[in-house]
Amino acid sequence: MLSLNNIHVTFNAGTPTEVRALSDINLKIADGEFVTVIGSNGAGKSTLLSVVVGTVKPERGSVHLDGEDVTAWSPHRRAMHVGRVFQEPRLGTCSSLSIEENLALAAARGKSRGLKGALGTRQNRKWLADQVAKLEIGLEDRMTQPVGTLSGGQRQAISLLMATLLPMKILVLDEHTAALDPGAAAKVLALSTEIAETRKLTTLMVTHSMRDALAVGHRTIMMDSGRIVLDFTEEERAKLTVQDLSSLFGRAIGKQLDDDKLMLA
Ligand SMILES: Nc1ncnc2c1ncn2[C@@H]1O[C@H](COP(=O)(O)OP(=O)(O)OP(=O)(O)O)[C@@H](O)[C@H]1O
Ligand SMILES: [Mg+2]
Repeated sequence: MLSLNNIHVTFNAGTPTEVRALSDINLKIADGEFVTVIGSNGAGKSTLLSVVVGTVKPERGSVHLDGEDVTAWSPHRRAMHVGRVFQEPRLGTCSSLSIEENLALAAARGKSRGLKGALGTRQNRKWLADQVAKLEIGLEDRMTQPVGTLSGGQRQAISLLMATLLPMKILVLDEHTAALDPGAAAKVLALSTEIAETRKLTTLMVTHSMRDALAVGHRTIMMDSGRIVLDFTEEERAKLTVQDLSSLFGRAIGKQLDDDKLMLA
């Protein structure tokens, strides 16, 4: 169980640029539950994920993982349990390193050894290629190719694999298909749900597509101005169309919204 309790985050507190990014967030996510997160720009979605990952420390409130208070844990320590994939494919991977070098670094997480040591034996390299083969995107024969030469979708698939390579519990996806063309986005989304399902990962996925938010995972939360304004269970969600979701969200925040994308009209 991942539990966020009374989380408050303010950026630039006490200055003219003060922003209250999260206000009294309370969220409990069961093991293996996949939650989609939707909300307008600046709603606090990425900040929420950063609090889970540990790169943003809440000024108030606590984060518990399986009953343990991890609020004070560094992002490095949390990385043993939490993997993150960003919107921008370049952020998750190192362009000048090969596919297998990127993966070897991910596999060496928490260990202090160089890249050569991380790549290790021929068996290790075979194991990495086997993991890539499971993605079924034909990259297992191109393990020594620099990641910078891959397409955005291929890079996001490798980022997903890097984030989930070692045993971990929580997967955090921040608009990770937004920079991709529709075909690649669909493929990376399908890959994400498959990995989350087979590994029984607790997952938080931010998306701007209400269609994807409803189609993927088990539960959908909607955020506005640093708060969770709507929270739909799997049963409640099953009855909702994109139009329903749009008008419910619009009503909750007192604004009119454009169809599928969360754009304020
Ligand atoms: N490091 C930071 N320093 C100052 N303000 C920040 C910082 N990070 C986020 N903010 C502010 O906090 C608020 C919430 O930002 P956040 O990035 O969480 O929104 P979001 O819901 O992810 O939006 P988007 O859909 O545009 O990605 C915004 O007003 C943003 O400008
Ligand atoms: Mg964001």
